[in-house]
Amino acid sequence: MFDLSSVDLLDAFTRELQLCKLTSTEHVVVLSEPGSRGDYVAAAFGAAKACGAHVIAATVPGGTPAPMPSTHTGAGPGLTSVLNDTTAQELLKSADLVVDLTREGFIHAPVQQEILKAGTRIIFVCDAPDVLIRNLPKEEDKAQVLQGVDLLKRSSVMRVTSKAGTDLTVRLSGSHPEFQCGFADDPGRWDHWPSTMVLCWPEISDGRIVLAEGDILLPFKEYVRTPVTLEISGGHIEKVTGGAEAELLNTFFDDARDEWARSLSHMGWGLMRTADWFATAMYGKDELMGMDARAFAGNFLWSTGPHPVLGRESYAHLDIAMRGCSVSVDGTDTVVNGKLAGDE
Ligand SMILES: [Fe+2]
Repeated sequence: MFDLSSVDLLDAFTRELQLCKLTSTEHVVVLSEPGSRGDYVAAAFGAAKACGAHVIAATVPGGTPAPMPSTHTGAGPGLTSVLNDTTAQELLKSADLVVDLTREGFIHAPVQQEILKAGTRIIFVCDAPDVLIRNLPKEEDKAQVLQGVDLLKRSSVMRVTSKAGTDLTVRLSGSHPEFQCGFADDPGRWDHWPSTMVLCWPEISDGRIVLAEGDILLPFKEYVRTPVTLEISGGHIEKVTGGAEAELLNTFFDDARDEWARSLSHMGWGLMRTADWFATAMYGKDELMGMDARAFAGNFLWSTGPHPVLGRESYAHLDIAMRGCSVSVDGTDTVVNGKLAGDE
């Protein structure tokens, strides 16, 4: 018997750490939990060595404070063992680069902000090996997403429409536009491999979102089968109607018993041209976080629950990826009928 899976991933992880501008004088911590993929820990460790950097593989106990099962949801609640352990936090703060191989990551855990403030860069990796390799970032992806961020920053209204009936008006003031480009190369930066997207955190949006057949509900990793209409007022979901998936969403919001469950969170559009809409159908749910759906070029991605800009802490986080939408920002088209402007 032999196991070459980590060696097979070494080139991709090395390229990824090079994109994170890892240098030979820097310190890398490969963070894992017992349920992490062993081949990823080995590949990240080997890649850090290949870059000539100092490396420590740190494994901490599993378990998150989130009430939902830990199956690569994207909720990013962090690990209780790190949230409660200042020694672990100090180790992460002292690193130049953390390769986060935990099952859920720390994106919505406030402690991550403290670690980033220390100048540490964090790259989170969770999806299946061929998803990582197919969507290996390119350096120029960053310039592309920054264009979208600049547009959002200087604009006041984003409008989202679709032939299915979506018509949403989003106020952009104070919405903190951000991006993901698949690598973390600036001090204090978090990013996710793979991802290429532009997003913002608006407070107020009004209108209607109509999910069409084939749109993707995350973290359930399920396709919409029957259209769902969501009435939105003041950034809040007032009413959800439709078939089975409408029922599913209403049940999720009720079961969450969370004051922010029906509030909108981040929204934006994907630019990852290598993404595969059918990855959600072709992999087991435990193999994927679903970045093919979240970052798919020309999607409209919106979400519910936590809103760090408004100080709303919530574990009830849905990401919903839609095809066939048009997104315009102060009259500039960024997505037209589900394709990036210029790609139609
Ligand atoms: Fe999200």
